[in-house]
Amino acid sequence: MLSVMTVAELRECVRRWRAQSNSIALVPTMGNLHAGHIQLVRHARAIADRVVVSVFVNPMQFGKNEDYARYPVTHERDRSALVEADADLLFMPAVDEVYREGVEQVTQVVVPGINSILEGEFRPAHFDGVTTVVAKLFNMVQADVAVFGEKDFQQLLIIRRMVEDLDMPVAIEAVATVREHDGLAMSSRNSYLSAGERALAPQLYQTLLDVRDLILQGDHDLAGIEQAGMMQLREAGFEPQYVSIRCSADLSIPASRHDRLVVLAAAMLGSTHLIDNITVSTG
Ligand code: PAF
Repeated sequence: MLSVMTVAELRECVRRWRAQSNSIALVPTMGNLHAGHIQLVRHARAIADRVVVSVFVNPMQFGKNEDYARYPVTHERDRSALVEADADLLFMPAVDEVYREGVEQVTQVVVPGINSILEGEFRPAHFDGVTTVVAKLFNMVQADVAVFGEKDFQQLLIIRRMVEDLDMPVAIEAVATVREHDGLAMSSRNSYLSAGERALAPQLYQTLLDVRDLILQGDHDLAGIEQAGMMQLREAGFEPQYVSIRCSADLSIPASRHDRLVVLAAAMLGSTHLIDNITVSTG
């Protein structure tokens, strides 16, 4: 596996592959790779000739009081995991390689509306940071396809919208959430949890399952079900931010229970921000 830190080196490598008519898949990550990321890399491996993985902790998508400074950086472990997963190229740029004039000065890519609900309500500007860096990565790599996890469901929809709205020539592939044996969705932030918090954390997924059961049993009071989900999380020891039942196509509020739905939840457990979601097919 090659490993490069500059856009010039990345482009040179991609140019050589293009000359050989190789197709290219990009897996954007912030590193601290776990089995969920490796699943994305394996998916990319199966659908393209060449796999590029970016590891970049993007300062632009963290709020002032968030965990940018303590976000886990595990470069050597990430590199070994990517060799094992048969990636072709690791792109690991420094902050000033991505934001040459600084984060404050960069042209921003904003997907309006959907960027300010749910996660966007609690993390203002978060998705603008995500879409800006993902648009830059797309331009740097010029891959045929990019692979994202369904764990960040809202992020996935926002990136799909950006690609559609801006006619970006890249296909977006989604990969199902990978879970621990007890249901907890894999996330780099799980490493922040104390032993006690880790034991409680699967209750987030359990709450989503219980909400889904109520919907499938025919309960029409979606607002009431959301409130019950919030209460369940509070009683389990979380500080819930939202439990929300939305249309899975665009996160709009469902007009009828026959829509294809997604239940999304976010909660603080101690000082750790956890999110998860589950889709519901009522048709
Ligand atoms: O999902 C992530 O890890 C990040 O939001 C992404 C897509 C790599 C952009 O920094």
